[in-house]
Amino acid sequence: MGTWRTFDVTWPAEARARGEVVDAALDAGVDLFDTSPMYGQAERVLGAALEGRRERALVATKVWTPDDAEAERQVQRALGWYHGRVDLYQVHNLVAWRRRLTLLERERDRGTVGAIGATHYSPSAFGELAEVMRTGRISAIQIPYNPHERDVERTILPLAEDLGIGVVVMRPLGGGRLVRSDPGAAALEPLRAFGVETWGQALLKWVLSDRRCHVAIPATSRPGRMRENAAAGAPPWLDDEARAYVARLADARA
Ligand SMILES: NC(=O)c1ccc[n+]([C@@H]2O[C@H](COP(=O)([O-])OP(=O)(O)OC[C@H]3O[C@@H](n4cnc5c(N)ncnc54)[C@H](OP(=O)(O)O)[C@@H]3O)[C@@H](O)[C@H]2O)c1
Repeated sequence: MGTWRTFDVTWPAEARARGEVVDAALDAGVDLFDTSPMYGQAERVLGAALEGRRERALVATKVWTPDDAEAERQVQRALGWYHGRVDLYQVHNLVAWRRRLTLLERERDRGTVGAIGATHYSPSAFGELAEVMRTGRISAIQIPYNPHERDVERTILPLAEDLGIGVVVMRPLGGGRLVRSDPGAAALEPLRAFGVETWGQALLKWVLSDRRCHVAIPATSRPGRMRENAAAGAPPWLDDEARAYVARLADARA
């Protein structure tokens, strides 16, 4: 599950409501929660929502700053919110990635960080992302992938597969834009055999049926949608024909 925008809330009532999204996620078997210091209050709000059940979650956060002292502060703040451990620590947008990898490797050696990753949202940075992947210093990447953002198919996904690197998919619903173009129940009929009930599930299954992708992190502020999205995280997976059908539905409504 992602937290960009959805968990950047300040009022106590809103923060409590996000706790209900986390309740729904954990109850449905979702255990990876992605956040970042770039997402305003989201890191802190997620930490509060996980209070008393931190051990049931895998927390993926990020370090995002060109400033070394601020990077240290970001890491210490996150370790405070997540009970002294971040399961996946990512270099956000590759900012100062050589120095940030050294910082995160130090924390991994201390046992406060599980895996180290790197993220970028823009195809213009995929050449540099590939360079980081080839260093052998990261074991996960986070990239955008959905029927309208397929640039990773060219080099990033094949390289991740070759190197055995885990792939976390951001923006699986196109940031909300794709999922709003619902083609309707009749168009989803051929997908029912794959356990697809809604257009959101069709899009999420489209991502996860590419076996080079390991986790999708759709964001939502609504517990009901969390349950709906979680249901797409289990087989049966779409075959090539069904994936092509979903892509055609998405294109038809672009
Ligand atoms: N590293 C990076 O550079 C980067 C960049 C972008 C994103 N990310 C990460 O990836 C996560 C996901 O990306 P994203 O938040 O941009 O976009 P997304 O997950 O593709 O879409 C989120 C939007 O879809 C809506 N939504 C969710 N489930 C739905 C459903 N079942 N039916 C209809 N609408 C639904 C949500 O609205 P409601 O709240 O109203 O449900 C929200 O507006 C982020 O939260 C963040 O953790 C990372």
